[in-house]
Amino acid sequence: MSNLFSIIHGPNLNMLGKREIGIYGKETMDDINAEINREADRIDVAVDFFQSNSEGELVTHMQQCRERAKGAVLNAGAYTHYSIALRDAISAAQIPVIEVHISNVYKRESFRHVSVIAPVCAGQICGFGSQGYILALKVLAEKFDI
Ligand code: DQA
Repeated sequence: MSNLFSIIHGPNLNMLGKREIGIYGKETMDDINAEINREADRIDVAVDFFQSNSEGELVTHMQQCRERAKGAVLNAGAYTHYSIALRDAISAAQIPVIEVHISNVYKRESFRHVSVIAPVCAGQICGFGSQGYILALKVLAEKFDI
């Protein structure tokens, strides 16, 4: 197993900065990745980044994380709410995965209150914008980078 933490963005997160700015803010995915990179340098851990709009590609990436990564930060976007395939892939990966959402999903539509991936994740952070990814990386590094 490597020393790498994988940062995974699901569907529509490549549209950040253009998409529903009132909910998700002005930062783009590249801005967020740059912040994560700065934090990774500061705490001296390795990260890589993956984004896909496709459920199958996310499943394949998660499967590969089993061999490649020590943990993952995952914003699964809308797949959070219904992808049993992604849930099974997280479970099979046998690495700590922290579920992140930019928005506070519990203040939004009721279909967003359900996370089918939460039971197989190490924890969940939502509602703190891009800061949630940084918090998740810190937790992974402190708890699991041994
Ligand atoms: C999201 C919340 C999801 O409900 C939504 O489908 C997204 C983004 C968030 O980061 O707040 O695409 O995961």
